[in-house]
Amino acid sequence: NEGSLWGARFAGGPSPELQRLSRSTHFDWQLAPYDIRGSRAHARGLAAAGYLEAGELERMLAGLDALEERWRSGEMQPRPEDEDVHGALEAALLVEIGAELGGKLRAGRSRNDQIATLVRLYLREHAARIGAELRALIGALAAQADAHPAAVMPGRTHLQHAQPILLAHHLLAHAWPLVRDLERLRDWAVRADRSPYGAGALAGSSLGLDPALVAADLGFALGPSENSIDATASRDVVAEFAYVAAQIGIDLSRLAEEIIFWNTREVGFVTLHDGYSTGSSIMPQKKNPDIAELARGKAGRLIGDLTGLLTTLKGLPLAYNRDLQEDKEPVFDAVETLEVLLPAFTGMVATLTFHVERMAELAPQGFSLATDVADWLVRQGVPFREAHEISGALVAHCERSGLELHEPSDADYAAIDPRLTGAVREVLTVEGSIASRSAAGGTAASAVAAQRAHLDERLAAL
Ligand code: ARG
Repeated sequence: NEGSLWGARFAGGPSPELQRLSRSTHFDWQLAPYDIRGSRAHARGLAAAGYLEAGELERMLAGLDALEERWRSGEMQPRPEDEDVHGALEAALLVEIGAELGGKLRAGRSRNDQIATLVRLYLREHAARIGAELRALIGALAAQADAHPAAVMPGRTHLQHAQPILLAHHLLAHAWPLVRDLERLRDWAVRADRSPYGAGALAGSSLGLDPALVAADLGFALGPSENSIDATASRDVVAEFAYVAAQIGIDLSRLAEEIIFWNTREVGFVTLHDGYSTGSSIMPQKKNPDIAELARGKAGRLIGDLTGLLTTLKGLPLAYNRDLQEDKEPVFDAVETLEVLLPAFTGMVATLTFHVERMAELAPQGFSLATDVADWLVRQGVPFREAHEISGALVAHCERSGLELHEPSDADYAAIDPRLTGAVREVLTVEGSIASRSAAGGTAASAVAAQRAHLDERLAAL
């Protein structure tokens, strides 16, 4: 098997069926630049340990540069007989710099420690990109909040009107989970900051190579893995990344669901920008929230990527097993999914038009100020249990007589309970209700302004 990484102990080459099953170049070819980066570091390690002369190292590095160049231009492609990116690159290097020198690079390393390292390098780069996209989305939510400092809306629990809130408060409620996702990516990056390179197949290298050199060369701040078996066998770093990706998907999906709801004719809180909505092939009037729906759908896909990966890992004995090759497609899919979804989603949020009059009209409906009646009674010295009863009786009265809470006469109030007087009407406005919730984290404008400042501080600390 010409140009293969193994074969001497085999009587013949692999069957075509095995080759088709085993081949991973159609998805791991994109790891070539990381593999080459690893090879440069490894070559320098070999030179430091005396296995490559200075001139040989120079030619080796030049050859690796040439491969990277040919990979970038698309001129170099894996051959059908290449099992994976590692084999394909070694074969290409042998052609580039000759078999004698090229054949020295593989000493003291294995595809097992290589692949564990490359996936980390790949994920680290993409985590940074996804983090930047998340920041942009948080920025779009914050900008919408800033643009609507006084807009009110019905706050809901169980999807029922609960208490009136500021739109800005609700928008920021979607920003905070994304801030935590950013923090999760940062925390993940710390655990991913160790280099498996040098672990060899599983037991470490006998050639006197220093894994710390390679780790430093590749920018792994915590140094090499502490245990060569763990280094090659574990993929929790990959699974954790897939979890964060799935969580981001879920957080987008929950906002997406609200946008879809707000965009219905019945609710009418938002209009989507034409550039961020789609039409129907049959119904000319349609303008659909497809970005939000795709976000909701892709959350399912991201959860699938995570569960598929976890299921692959469960039950694998130490150390490397070929099952581990199955970690890449799900996590690549998670990365690619977020990288196409986030920019579109951010554009949709940034260009949303809010219909603040419609929101204000609905804010007091559904007796959403009933809690304010109870709280007003508490401030008059009524125990909350009784206040809740009185306010509930007022709601029942209003529901029967088709009135809003402020509309019954003073006599009707007194008939419900003598402690309920006309003075309660002073809190029966959306603005009054919102302004009263001024404790930290509440929906009053002053509390929301403080929250908004905290958001900037948390982002600045990341
Ligand atoms: N392509 C493999 C992977 O993605 C790495 C190769 C290790 N193969 C082996 N037979 N030990 O995990």
